[in-house]
Amino acid sequence: MCGIVGYTGHRPAAEILVGGLRRLEYRGYDSAGLVTVDGGLHVRKRAGRVDELAGLLAEQPAPGTCGISHTRWATHGGATTTNAHPHLGGDGSVAVVHNGVIENYAILKQQLQAEGFVFRSETDTEVIAHLIASYLEDDLADAVRKACTRLKGTYGLAVVSPRFPGLIVGARLGSPLVLGIGQHEHLMASDPSALVGHIENVFYLQERQICSLTAEEWTIVDADKAPVQARTQPINWDLGDVDKGSFAHYMLKEIYEQPTALENAMRGRLDDADATAHFGGLNLDAQQLRRADRFIFTACGTSYHAAIVGEYLFEELARVPVEVEYASEFRYRNPPIDRNTIVLAITQSGETADTLAAMRESKRKGHPTLAICNVVGSSIAREADGGVYLHAGPEIGVASTKAFTSQVTVLAMLALFVGRMRHLSAPQGERLVRELRGLPQLIRETLTCDEQVQQVARKYANVRNALYLGRQYLFPVALEGALKLKEISYIHAEGYPAAEMKHGPIALVDKETPSVFLIPRGEVFDKVMSNLEEIKARGGPVIAVASTGDERVARKADDIIHIPEAPDYLQPLVAVVPLQLLAYHIARLRGCDVDKPRNLAKSVTVE
Ligand code: F6R
Repeated sequence: MCGIVGYTGHRPAAEILVGGLRRLEYRGYDSAGLVTVDGGLHVRKRAGRVDELAGLLAEQPAPGTCGISHTRWATHGGATTTNAHPHLGGDGSVAVVHNGVIENYAILKQQLQAEGFVFRSETDTEVIAHLIASYLEDDLADAVRKACTRLKGTYGLAVVSPRFPGLIVGARLGSPLVLGIGQHEHLMASDPSALVGHIENVFYLQERQICSLTAEEWTIVDADKAPVQARTQPINWDLGDVDKGSFAHYMLKEIYEQPTALENAMRGRLDDADATAHFGGLNLDAQQLRRADRFIFTACGTSYHAAIVGEYLFEELARVPVEVEYASEFRYRNPPIDRNTIVLAITQSGETADTLAAMRESKRKGHPTLAICNVVGSSIAREADGGVYLHAGPEIGVASTKAFTSQVTVLAMLALFVGRMRHLSAPQGERLVRELRGLPQLIRETLTCDEQVQQVARKYANVRNALYLGRQYLFPVALEGALKLKEISYIHAEGYPAAEMKHGPIALVDKETPSVFLIPRGEVFDKVMSNLEEIKARGGPVIAVASTGDERVARKADDIIHIPEAPDYLQPLVAVVPLQLLAYHIARLRGCDVDKPRNLAKSVTVE
């Protein structure tokens, strides 16, 4: 979704701002713009890509060493140059870029129009700009603070004014802002990836705080104007994390990073002596975990699919009932929930609006809340009572890959941890620890299927529909495989429990519609084999993801992709890899923009 980058220091701002916006392109956007302050405001904006903004700047440079910039994902008003940010307030006394949605913008607009403010765009952001201008006297930060008290909704804001050259004011509520603290220069961004390479230390602005940045100073006040003692933390990302390296796309790089991501997720957490796992930040005591009658896992999209795998893992290994809820539904339902229920939010970005709202609602009702999250310092990570970081490094491809496998790995470790407090024996724990340790190598071996996957991709790149079928642990992987294909290749795909397809979806089967079967050796192999035969009997092509050397499947399937054998509960981690690669190669063959699929945003910060 929208991105913000601000810079104040001694270097030409426009160059740094455009570089930062390019880093945020993965979030999804449809227009881009910036303003620099240098003897007045220099606004440049364009509908379309950051490249087009860069082209405009080549013709009309924006001078100065202080400025703010934005990539916009349209909500109020179309994706036009006029609606692109920054927006000016008053007669150009302030310029504002904004992430989020202002819910009371219509009423504020009427009031401001009655006071004589003239609106030029259809955006909710322009309301903020005029509102700040209406309060502006001799203190820009205070004008921003006063304006914020009138806003309902969510915002991450960056504001400059020609009356205060060199100063950037930022504010946040429900939309992230991180400050980059440098030597004689300071930056601000909605996402730390825009700051990498410029600074070593960051500060995550908290809800309702207002920050003021100049080249030499940074200060924070709270909503009541009280100064805040802010402590920085190291950014912990380097340029290698945010560059594609030798890979054609971030998505492919991140697929190949999975063995390392899983090593990082497990580092220091597996305990041989006690045959369990340990987590530093759960903030729940053993009694609370032992007494828990139920867990609710809540998430969206790919993280929701990881949650379903987690349900199977917890029920098998920890013997605790789990319910999995779409965060977008859960936040508005009012289900009766018993006292001893722990709510676990699962999210890569930690900023997904629905997941955040579902977690807040659970807290309001008094449930302990945990989060499994990748982005350190994100809203969900901060607001949960406790949680576990993935340590997967930045995930930049819009289609989530390494976050999914890292989430499932953390869920498996959590299930082991809770299981060992309840009924798992020490030898069972030892076996699980050993198997988990072997995971990164298993994923490395799985990645060697890439060549087979490419052949399959060439054969099926032009299909219009596809089915993904799996049972038990592999049902959520079928959902995830179908989601990957549709989001980046725009082929309609559906995932089902393999046996469920007889109850309707089998009507779709014809010789043009391939079914991707997840059928490694394991407990339900024979059952899935019968489902596969049912599809073959109706003339549907079958692509089988099967265990290496499985002749029985090879005889029946039209195409086969081999994966190494794994215990049933780890099969989701192995089987998802060829599905990620299949979606990737098909999307490439169809000429799709793999890392920036249409209409999608990396972090969905609106409802
Ligand atoms: C799919 C994808 C999305 C996200 C979903 C939740 O590839 O990336 O479906 O999984 O928007 O995002 P997080 O995990 O950041 O809460």
